[in-house]
Amino acid sequence: MTLHQDLLEAALRIADSAYAPYSSFHVGAAIRSASGNIYTGCNVENASYGLSICAERSAVAQMISAGERTISAICVASDGGVTPCGACRQVLIEFGEDFSVLLVDRHSRQLERVWQINELLPGAFRLQ
Ligand code: THU
Repeated sequence: MTLHQDLLEAALRIADSAYAPYSSFHVGAAIRSASGNIYTGCNVENASYGLSICAERSAVAQMISAGERTISAICVASDGGVTPCGACRQVLIEFGEDFSVLLVDRHSRQLERVWQINELLPGAFRLQ
């Protein structure tokens, strides 16, 4: 088993559940929490486009709803293995000092790249 293989598979699986009739861009996210549990989410679009919810934020909502507060890794599955949007970076960094962000392509099912959240959002806003 490769590193975080279970997380990759969870992200790929939940991407199939995406509600993306407007963009046709399916995204799945799987978070491993500090306890080792996995929480998943997909993007949920809306006819009022700006109300669409990203997969990463769906997964964070699942983790928080379960009473957990710390991300130890996240995997995001999409066409091409894109990086999380800026808004999601800020939401993710709320729940971890530093953790890996694994990007996987839905078609090849291969890991494309691994970032650290601090590389994706240096100098993140935090309330003092
Ligand atoms: N999307 C995500 O789910 N995560 C991201 O980090 C970037 C974009 C979704 C939002 C929208 O449903 C679709 O991808 C196209 O932007």
